[in-house]
Amino acid sequence: MSEETKGTEFGRLSVSYQKKPCYDIVFENSFANLPAELLKLYPEENGENLLKKRNLCVITDSNVDVLFGREIKELMQGICKELFFYVMPAGEEHKTLETVSDIYRFLIAKNITRKDMLVALGGGVVGDITGFAAASYLRGIDFVQVPTTLLSQVDSSIGGKTGVDFEQYKNMVGAFHMPRLVYTNVSALKELDEKQFASGFAEVMKHGLIKDRKYYEWLLENMYEIDERDHTILQEMVYKSCMIKKKVVEKDPTEQGERALLNFGHTIGHGIEKASNFTLLHGECVALGCIAAAHISHMHDLIGEDEYLEIRDMFVAFHLPITLRGIDFTAKEVVENTKSDKKNVSGTLRFILLNKLGKAFIDETVSEKELLQAVEELIIHEEA
Ligand code: GLY
Repeated sequence: MSEETKGTEFGRLSVSYQKKPCYDIVFENSFANLPAELLKLYPEENGENLLKKRNLCVITDSNVDVLFGREIKELMQGICKELFFYVMPAGEEHKTLETVSDIYRFLIAKNITRKDMLVALGGGVVGDITGFAAASYLRGIDFVQVPTTLLSQVDSSIGGKTGVDFEQYKNMVGAFHMPRLVYTNVSALKELDEKQFASGFAEVMKHGLIKDRKYYEWLLENMYEIDERDHTILQEMVYKSCMIKKKVVEKDPTEQGERALLNFGHTIGHGIEKASNFTLLHGECVALGCIAAAHISHMHDLIGEDEYLEIRDMFVAFHLPITLRGIDFTAKEVVENTKSDKKNVSGTLRFILLNKLGKAFIDETVSEKELLQAVEELIIHEEA
């Protein structure tokens, strides 16, 4: 192995579930240490690592397979009994029970047993669907997250939320199922196109806005380095964001309270995502949702107009939209969509507001009229 491909761990966090250490997030600059990390999950038996008697099934998508499939196959050959690869079509529209059924068929055909393990290699869709297949196949088998996008590295790979979309509902069917390990190769972010990188950045900014003003300010100070994907700054950013997410999911693993803060920007964000028929990326919609939520926070006199405008404008520097123009849907449709959001199916709108920069809370007083007003504020009506 050459010096360049040798793994370089630069950080590690241990995540507890129900107050007991449950899994590590290991931060690396390559995939080189993945085999060693997987082997560490298994005990030695008669001088042999037990993984040698287990099968691994990597689940990835058609985009990620092209980027990293070969490298991962080469690295992992020989560490387990048999290595299988299941490649799903890329895209949110495939995050369905049909894809899960197809995965089950594949696992059955390959005789994957309860002692074997799945490896999710990819972004949020791959992680969520693999986690759900792992949670439900044979009543639950182990899985590992290998997130390759910014969004999945800082958000979706941590905390054990797994699932799929169902009919008009996003993430409606799922389970909490903790990974055995999250292996985060920050160098993989170099492969992301600008839109995907920006989309993930919306979740990073969300972490600062809801929990940590200093982090938010650090992001602004380092905006050029982040934009240029300066490796050292990206390492620090991914690590800091994961630390925020880890603390939240440890306190409230199954979203009885505080974890809902992570939904800041997501109620309206999901409404826009659906109204746009998923033509806008998740993070783009989250950015717009954060702006609308900051606007409502200002309407409730919780933050000043200057703070609202600052939050809105700083998304521009990170190539995220702050307005909706040339769209073929209305603010009313977006608000209607928020009603079919799974967070609101019980009837009460639980909305996340800011009571200052770096501090969010759960509010149940936001009216439909205010939602409409905040979404209208995002829309630029073009002259005929
Ligand atoms: N992405 C929100 C959560 O993990 O709770």
